[in-house]
Order: sequence, then C-alpha cells, then structure tokens
Amino acid sequence: MTDSKKLAEAVNKRRTFAIISHPDAGKTTITEQLLLFGGVVREAGTVKGRGSSNFAKSDWMEIEKKRGISVTSSVMQFDYQGKRINILDTPGHEDFSEDTYRTLMAVDSAVMVIDGAKGIEPQTKKLFQICKMRGIPIFTFINKFDRDAREPLDLLNEIEDVLGIETYPMDWPIGMGRQFMGVYDRYNHRVALSHPQDPANPYLPLDEDGQVIGENPLAGEGEWKDALDGMELIEMAGSELDEEKIAKGDQTPVFFGSALTNFGVKTFLETYLKFAPAPSAHKTEDGKSIDPLAPEFSGFIFKIQANMNPKHRDRIAFVRICSGEFTRGMDVTLERTKKPIRLSNVTEFMANTRENVENAVAGDIIGLYDTGNFQIGDSIYTGKQDIKFEKLPQFTPELFVRVTPKNVMKQKSFHKGINQLVQEGAVQLYTGYNSNDYILGAVGQLQFEVFKFRMQNEYNSEVIMEPLGSKTARWVDPEQLDPKMASSRNMLVKDRYGAPLFLFENQFAENWFKQKYPDVKLTAKL
Ligand code: G4P
Repeated sequence: MTDSKKLAEAVNKRRTFAIISHPDAGKTTITEQLLLFGGVVREAGTVKGRGSSNFAKSDWMEIEKKRGISVTSSVMQFDYQGKRINILDTPGHEDFSEDTYRTLMAVDSAVMVIDGAKGIEPQTKKLFQICKMRGIPIFTFINKFDRDAREPLDLLNEIEDVLGIETYPMDWPIGMGRQFMGVYDRYNHRVALSHPQDPANPYLPLDEDGQVIGENPLAGEGEWKDALDGMELIEMAGSELDEEKIAKGDQTPVFFGSALTNFGVKTFLETYLKFAPAPSAHKTEDGKSIDPLAPEFSGFIFKIQANMNPKHRDRIAFVRICSGEFTRGMDVTLERTKKPIRLSNVTEFMANTRENVENAVAGDIIGLYDTGNFQIGDSIYTGKQDIKFEKLPQFTPELFVRVTPKNVMKQKSFHKGINQLVQEGAVQLYTGYNSNDYILGAVGQLQFEVFKFRMQNEYNSEVIMEPLGSKTARWVDPEQLDPKMASSRNMLVKDRYGAPLFLFENQFAENWFKQKYPDVKLTAKL
C-alpha cells in the first residue's frame, strides 16, 4: 500500500469499538455472536470463561488463567460487509476498571450492553461516563428479553435520567420472557419474529404507515398491541434519529434483543455499521489534532500485559494506531526517550493468514513484544513529527498497602517485579517522602491480590502486604509543602514522578488539615 488513496480506503473501512457493561449483562455472549457473524469462530462458547463476576476474589489461579486467556481475546478483528471491525475487550471485573478506562481511550465508539431486567448498573454508569467525557458515539443493546425484563419505556427513561443521554429506539420489543415474539424494527421497516414459522424468512415487511403488509401472525396478540402502543408513544414524543447527535455522543440508538438466543444481534451489528464512525483524529498534548489519514505513522500505548506464557517473561504493549500505516520492521521514535525503536516483533490480533499479509493502519491495534522499553501512555511515531498524545486518564487509587519483600536478600527481584508491574499499570506505586517505604495504591482489592500472585509467580518474589486501608489522595504544591505537616493521619508520600501528596485517613482528617493550613492547596488529581 503506497498511495494516499489506498490508505484512506483502508482507514475508512475500520470500525474500532469496545463493549461496556456491568458484569453478567451479556458482553461475552454478544461478542461471541459477533465473531460468529464475522466467521472468526465457528462455535459459540469459545471466547473465554464466562461469568467474570462470579469468581472468588481469592482464587488466584482463576485470575491468572483469565488474564492469560484475555491476552489473545483482548483485540478481536474480523471483516463484515466490507468493514474491518476491531473489538477491544475490557475486563469485566470492577477492580480492573483502570485498565478498562484506558482501553476506552483507544476506541472510536462504544456499545453499551444493558441487562433488560436490571437496567443501568454501577459499572455501566462509570464506563458510560468515560465514553461521554470523550464524546464518542454510544450504541445501546438491551439484552435478555427472552427473560422477564423491565418495561421498555421504563428502561429508556432510566437511560435518559441516569446517564443524561437522549435515546432513540431503533426497534421495540414485542412481549418478553416466554412471550417474547420479536421486535418491531422501526429502522428497517419490518417486524423481526423470534419464532417464525419459516425460519428462512423471519421478517414481516411494513408499509409506509408502519402496518404489516400481508398476513400478520401476531395480529391477535396482546403483546403486539402493547408494542404498537409503545411505538405510538415514542413517535408522539417525536425525537428524530439524529446522526450529528449520535456522532457527538448526545443521542444513543437503542436496540432490544437476546444475545443468548441470538435474536437481534445481527440487526444490531448491521445497523451499527451504518452509523459507527471510522477512525477519528486524536489530540496531542499541545492541542494539535492528528489526522488518521496523515501519511506518517503515529500511535500510543494504552495497555501493557504480561504474556500468557509465564516461561517467557515478555510482555505485549498494545498500540492504537492513530495515523498512517504500520509495516513490519519499521523504525519509530519513542517520544518519551526520543530514541529510535525497530518494530519487528509485532502481533496482530485474530487475523487470518490473508489478513496477516496486509499491514495495519489507523484504527487498528497492534501488539508489540516488549522487553521493558514501553510504558502506558507512550507515543510512537515515524518521521520528524515529535507527537505526544494527550495523557491517558490516571485514576486516583482509594486503597493502599505497604509492601516489603519477605526475603530481604531478594531485593533485586522485588524491585524488578514492582517496576514492571507498575509500568504495566497493574497497581500504582508511591514511596515514602522521607523513607524508602513502598506503598501501592489500587482502585480495587483484587488488583493487590493479582499483584502479590504475579510477584511470586513471575518474579519469584514473595511479598508482605500490610493493609493501610482506604485513603483519600491529595496532591500538594511542593512550594507550599512542609514535611512537618505530615502525621499518622495524613501520610506524606511521593508518586512515581516524584510529586508529593498526602494520603488522608478520612474526610475528617482532610478537613482538619484544611483548617489548620488554609492556604495550602490540595488537588485530587495530578
Ligand atoms: P458478561 O460477559 O457481560 O459478564 O456476561 P456473559 O455473556 O458471560 O453472560 C452472563 C450470563 O448471562 C451467562 O449465564 C449468559 O448465558 C447469560 N446471558 C447472556 N445473554 C443472555 C440473554 O440474552 N438471555 C438470557 N436468558 N441469558 C443471557 P451464566 O449462567 O453465567 O453462564 P452460562 O452457564 O450460561 O455459560
């Protein structure tokens, strides 16, 4: 691929998205169905272990197993109707939300899966807010209508009220649970039957007034009447499908269905592809916008993961390509060090042999085998661009532990392990301001457990973790800092960039500090 027209064609084919949902809403099941349509897997149930919320927090092996497997399914790529789709997986467990947040920086749109019986759940809300902050399009699939679910109108209202986004139902369920008969597909002008008499022909066409053309097997059913009433209400409310609003993340097209029985997923995919954006421009720290069609290559690392094979200590750095084209063996500059690096050991994801020959372009994700060169948030580029992409959000940890090696003779492996796991973003590291204490911060307890397990298994370093409990982290201006301000209720530490912060025991301790030092400015995030 050499000329710009070919590059533009390839880039504009890309659709890169993540599925956001609360554990158990059906993300895995939908992903599997999508991969089936894409011809990547032949059988459902092959993506990964299910029910990520179910595993016991102390079950190290299970975590390890899942982590390993998730490397291969972290990015799933397939072709469908002339588009090349990249689905970025996001860990389901809420303790890994930091990882998920960063992954959301690498997509151009998101699919929000909601359990029809449960509605908006905490994790959905958190992830939605990240997408909203980025202003990316969000598409909604309300799942599990083969079971008893909440009233569709009620679910739509909840999305609007709780998430603050306008909804546009693309279809409307006809019944639910055992009486789930299909959907009134407003967008495609048809009724899709979940139990058609002739499975080869599951649709009833609609005329211009929305009436079924020909015989309607549902005509006498109460569910049919209810669905028409629902549709009428929606029509009366008068919201229009608005592409501009969708593009900005101000309106979400909503689909109803059942991933388990594979009802509605295909319609969803096909309609989604009509609206989902091609790779968008990414901003740099100095406010420039990098055009995905620019000929020079650029990208950023949004995730680093240890290889699934513990015998080989290599790691994979995931790069979102933001512009240009990647070719194997190309030389890039690593912005942080300004040093050249040759990208020869690279993996693409789930691409079949034919696709392997083709190169990756803006919108795609490539995995670089990393021996310790890369950090999360690093930018890489070709030519003389000197691009530094916008900082990835760092989440202020709420839980802290003090960590020491069990065997003091094994300092080397202890430090190596900590450094690498911190670079991977597994936990955040703080050091005592006036001591050599190592303090780890995390968003969820499970992060510590995985850390401890991996230190032992991958770095042969047994660690002792002394819980410090939950704390509020507040950064302080070094100019205003007097180390005497620290006490047992507000520990003074440094983050990995050397910036000082206090870890307050609770709100009370923070208020007390503010009263005592009214001029000292505290900030929640660096
Ligand atoms: P997740 O990745 O979002 O965590 O959810 P996942 O797809 O693993 O689905 C969670 C559970 O919900 C699974 O049941 C799955 O079979 C079920 N499920 C998903 N979609 C639907 C649907 O449309 N209708 C119904 N009725 N159930 C659905 P499980 O019992 O935890 O796992 P399994 O034993 O079925 O594998």
